Amino acid sequence: MASPASPGARRFAFVVNGSAGPEDLLNAVLEPRGFAPVVMVSSVAELITRIRVGAPTLVVVPVPAGGTSADFSLLAMELRRHPTMAAIGTAASKDADTVLGAMRAGIPEFISSTAGAEELSAAVSRVLANFSLPGQAGQVYTVYAAKGGVGTSMIAASVSWALAQLDATRESALVDFNTAGAGMRVMLNLSPSYDMGSVAMRADRLDREYLRSVVTQPVDRVSVLTAAEELDAVESLDAEASGVLIELLRQDYAYTVIDTDHHFNGQTLAALDAADRILLVTQFDVSALRSTQRSLGVFARLGYPAEKVMIVTNRRTDRDRISVQGAERVLGRSISFLLPNDYNACSGAITQGQFVQRYATASPLVSAFAGMAAKLAGQPVSANGNGNGNGNGKHSVPSRLSRLFSRKSS
Ligand SMILES: Nc1ncnc2c1ncn2[C@@H]1O[C@H](COP(=O)(O)OP(=O)(O)O)[C@@H](O)[C@H]1O
Ligand SMILES: [Mg+2]
Repeated sequence: MASPASPGARRFAFVVNGSAGPEDLLNAVLEPRGFAPVVMVSSVAELITRIRVGAPTLVVVPVPAGGTSADFSLLAMELRRHPTMAAIGTAASKDADTVLGAMRAGIPEFISSTAGAEELSAAVSRVLANFSLPGQAGQVYTVYAAKGGVGTSMIAASVSWALAQLDATRESALVDFNTAGAGMRVMLNLSPSYDMGSVAMRADRLDREYLRSVVTQPVDRVSVLTAAEELDAVESLDAEASGVLIELLRQDYAYTVIDTDHHFNGQTLAALDAADRILLVTQFDVSALRSTQRSLGVFARLGYPAEKVMIVTNRRTDRDRISVQGAERVLGRSISFLLPNDYNACSGAITQGQFVQRYATASPLVSAFAGMAAKLAGQPVSANGNGNGNGNGKHSVPSRLSRLFSRKSS
């Protein structure tokens, strides 16, 4: 999909045709506030599709007479999934039902569809003031491998730590989406009072404050949300709630790093969808590379743009029979990150329940993670900080999952 605005512009507005004055008027109001030229869309349905591909800073939408319609309910769901997106509702008449409908949909500003520059400008100011600066929404990195044991969890933890050290004003959230295994709890020797199980029990009422209260106290500016301890005791989070969780974390943390299961479930898919970058982990052996090849195929079918996926090769040694070029040929992709093998550093860190960077300061693996973080942070994905292109917004997560499974492809 073509970029909706000129490069360098920070804010984007999507406006449903006919919901507000002419394009010129909208641009006159928005451009001085750092917006790219507005993107006009033909319908609420098209707006929903485009929000899913890359949430804009602001949407201007028509509120249906009486305040309800099928499309409008879908839009309301989408707005909840993107709490950092500002919305202005418009209608020809401001009758009580219509205004109430807008409020129920979570649209905080409501103006007449024939509003002039002054009224529109005031509404834009108010609505932007109420939302955290969208240009500053955090980046989400999802670490994934179809095969276990290649270092997914080690990399997720280490990258979250390295990102948080780049700048003393920035924090990371490290989220353990594994539904099996002890995960971060053991790796970082944590025994938190709350975990994903607590989050799952509150899935329909998540907010930023609650999440701040369930993550661990930050260590070196990294807060962790561990997997549920008693896996049978709770349902895992469904795709929808996982998406909401990630968007809420994105508002609060400069970096959210998600460690995922090796199989596809709602949580994994939500994490892959929401990611600005997927860090696809592999190693220099035939079985790992084959499985990575299959993952790339699945990602292509999910509609992810190629640049969303970065390949991380782990445990590189001089003895590997496969060269970097050889691996790149097999994958048909270039390798973004090359991490050296350091058994002592990793096993020591895990035994001590520490980040590897704290345990083995001088390891070349630690420098590699620092370089990786600097490169990731130096390439934020989209101007509005939310380039979570899933490229396939027409399909809900469950239907996309079933399509994937029906093709027996993971
Ligand atoms: N670069 C590395 N060098 C040496 N050992 C590593 C490296 N990365 C990971 N490991 C080790 O490999 C094992 C599997 O790593 P883990 O992160 O649990 O994999 P996954 O989450 O993919 O199953 C762990 O014992 C970990 O310490
Ligand atoms: Mg793991």
